[in-house]
Amino acid sequence: MKNLRSIFAGVTLLAVCVMFSQNVSAQAKKPAGKPWAAPETAVKMKNPVKSDATSIKEGKDLYAQHCKSCHGAKGKGDGTKAEKLDISCGDFSSAETAKATDGELFWKTTDGRKPMPSYKEKLSDNDRWKVINFLRSLADAK
Ligand code: HEC
Repeated sequence: MKNLRSIFAGVTLLAVCVMFSQNVSAQAKKPAGKPWAAPETAVKMKNPVKSDATSIKEGKDLYAQHCKSCHGAKGKGDGTKAEKLDISCGDFSSAETAKATDGELFWKTTDGRKPMPSYKEKLSDNDRWKVINFLRSLADAK
């Protein structure tokens, strides 16, 4: 009887552990969206806003207002809204983002792609470039 009870307790504990680990990994690892390539003209676009302390700071403030809820404070894709999305928001500190040109990041920010909104009307061109300068500072930190 004592044995049966401890086996039952063990099985229950195991089940709880499995459920917990699946839940955690489901949140941490959302599938990536379909490949999303910017057109060549966008890839080659030059950032007209100088990347300096001022533009990075302004970009950071805009990012906190418009992007952080999904992309997370450090761009890791772990914002509070990210949990509710079906796909990953990506990771701005990754080597992949480091490889992308400013123009590509700007184009994606401008157009958006569901569930990410477009920022064409929400932010001016200059403000979007400032946000890109801030995104760069996250990638550079790696
Ligand atoms: C509602 C959540 C949400 C908000 C708000 C949001 N994004 Fe996104 N973003 C996403 C998702 C989801 C993806 C992945 C889209 C895909 O793969 O189709 C993404 C992708 C991106 C990408 C492409 C990532 C890559 O690896 O190439 C960039 C750049 C980007 N977002 C910038 C921004 C910026 C800048 C803002 C704020 C001005 C912002 N996003 C606001 C959800 C969001």
